[in-house]
Amino acid sequence: MKIFCPKKNTNIFWIFLFLKEKSYMKRKLITSALPYIHGIPHLGNIIGSVLPADVYSRFCRLKGEKVLYICGSDSHGTMFEIVAEKNKTTPKQIVYQNHKKVKDIFKKFEISFDYYGITDSKINEEFTNHIFKKLDENNYIIEVEVENAYCEKCRKFLPDRFIEGKCSFCGGLARGDQCDDCGRLIDVKEIIDSHCIFCKGKIKFRKTKHLFLNLPKFEKELFEFVEKSRGWSKLAKMETLGFLKRGLKPRAITRDASWGFKVPKKNYENKVFYVWFDAPIGYLSFTKEWCLKNDQNFEDWWKSEDTELVQFMGKDNTIFHSIIFPAMLLGCRENWKLADRLISCGWLKTEGIKFSKSRGKGLTTEEALKKYPADYWRFVLISLYPEQNDSVFSIEVFREIINNEFADIIGNFIHRVLSFCYSNFGMIPKPNKDNIDHPIPEEIKELKNISNTITKNFEDCRFQEALKNIVHYGKKANAYFNNNEPWKKGEEEKKEICFYSGNLVKNLAILIYPIVPNFSEKVFEFLNINPKKLKWNEAEKFDYMGKIKKSRPLIDKL
Ligand code: MF3
Ligand code: ZN
Repeated sequence: MKIFCPKKNTNIFWIFLFLKEKSYMKRKLITSALPYIHGIPHLGNIIGSVLPADVYSRFCRLKGEKVLYICGSDSHGTMFEIVAEKNKTTPKQIVYQNHKKVKDIFKKFEISFDYYGITDSKINEEFTNHIFKKLDENNYIIEVEVENAYCEKCRKFLPDRFIEGKCSFCGGLARGDQCDDCGRLIDVKEIIDSHCIFCKGKIKFRKTKHLFLNLPKFEKELFEFVEKSRGWSKLAKMETLGFLKRGLKPRAITRDASWGFKVPKKNYENKVFYVWFDAPIGYLSFTKEWCLKNDQNFEDWWKSEDTELVQFMGKDNTIFHSIIFPAMLLGCRENWKLADRLISCGWLKTEGIKFSKSRGKGLTTEEALKKYPADYWRFVLISLYPEQNDSVFSIEVFREIINNEFADIIGNFIHRVLSFCYSNFGMIPKPNKDNIDHPIPEEIKELKNISNTITKNFEDCRFQEALKNIVHYGKKANAYFNNNEPWKKGEEEKKEICFYSGNLVKNLAILIYPIVPNFSEKVFEFLNINPKKLKWNEAEKFDYMGKIKKSRPLIDKL
């Protein structure tokens, strides 16, 4: 490796190297929004947070960074009481049964969590109580008498999500405290023609007391936090600034319900914390649980400058991560770490309807995996990654992407090159040149540039763009192999073309690894490469040679 080292600037050079080294040593705590588990996750959940976070985690690990990727089941909320009632069982039973199922599905999807917890855990209860007490001590909790929705027929206070009606801003369908169409958070009292989703009965409002987090007190700090943030997705930043500019209001953190963590305060014994209060605290708890199991220091992750916290979520989750959770952490005055980067993405729609569990639309992941292997889904979902705008999924789009890109451009290229090398040499041959880097063919140089762009795309969490460029890389690699027609060439030239093509195969498999790990691992196996020893920067190198195995076609056309 050549290193630029001007003699006069050696000091600067060493400082540079030191900083570079240090940036590599930085810990990376990666989280994806905790899925609700009253149903089986649908593809929208996968693309919304766990898949992009997984792709990013795999990329960072390959780069040699110290990564901790955590997630877990969001297990509270009134929804479970309803589901339990319907199934004549208890919320707890349903929660733990579904938790297991969901965990299993993520595994089949190759999601590489370092830890997957559940918010109903003992440690999460301790953290929730602790944070609540700190916020209360520091006077950020206020008691407010509110008029809450009550269904007389069901004889119950109705949590927001059981109320439906028309959004007073856009006329769309408002469900609970958020409008599905414009995404605004709304007061249920403002919903037009509100009714109970169970009995369709009209909603009445009754007085009851609740605890609120006094958000307006954090306005200034939150503005500063958001203004100086770097590397957030456009969507996350826009949404958050818009929300802040409209002005903050206190938010209720308790609910009239029985499933959830009890509120440790006098007169609140019959209420529980609102699910959105204890859910994000799960990020701390799961880290702690992982640390206990792995003999690591928890504070290194949540109280250290040397940890970068990167959080992935769907856009409807943004303000919980960019405003409410940060306010909860700031209010403890305990120096908790706030998110360094927030990456939120749009919705994946099928024929104009967003994938949504509670409305029962869209393919469940279980069904999806029965039809095609995980890599096919991962490839298509990243290729449709709704970075800024919502994207539309249909089975035709799925087929097109698999056939034209994954099969034709990538899978086929790899199989052809490996088969050709295998039948001619049984290996990726060494070209008979003293220095394989001189002169490097022009086409290969161009490909090196593309791989730099791909690295940058991954760093910026622009995964859709990364995959686009990987496909572009595949096209160029195909062109190199085809235009040079090694089958028509003499031994020496054939060797050189096979050497470069074989290295293109290896590089392509590294570049695409974060997106389709299983696929790449098969390629590494043909190449006799141990994937555990691979490093990201090897994707730029042309130095690989050695025996290979007979390859098989990798992607079946649909
Ligand atoms: N369960 C929520 C959803 O699926 C996300 C919770 S994220 C957390 O929309 F931050 F609260 F954990
Ligand atoms: Zn009712």
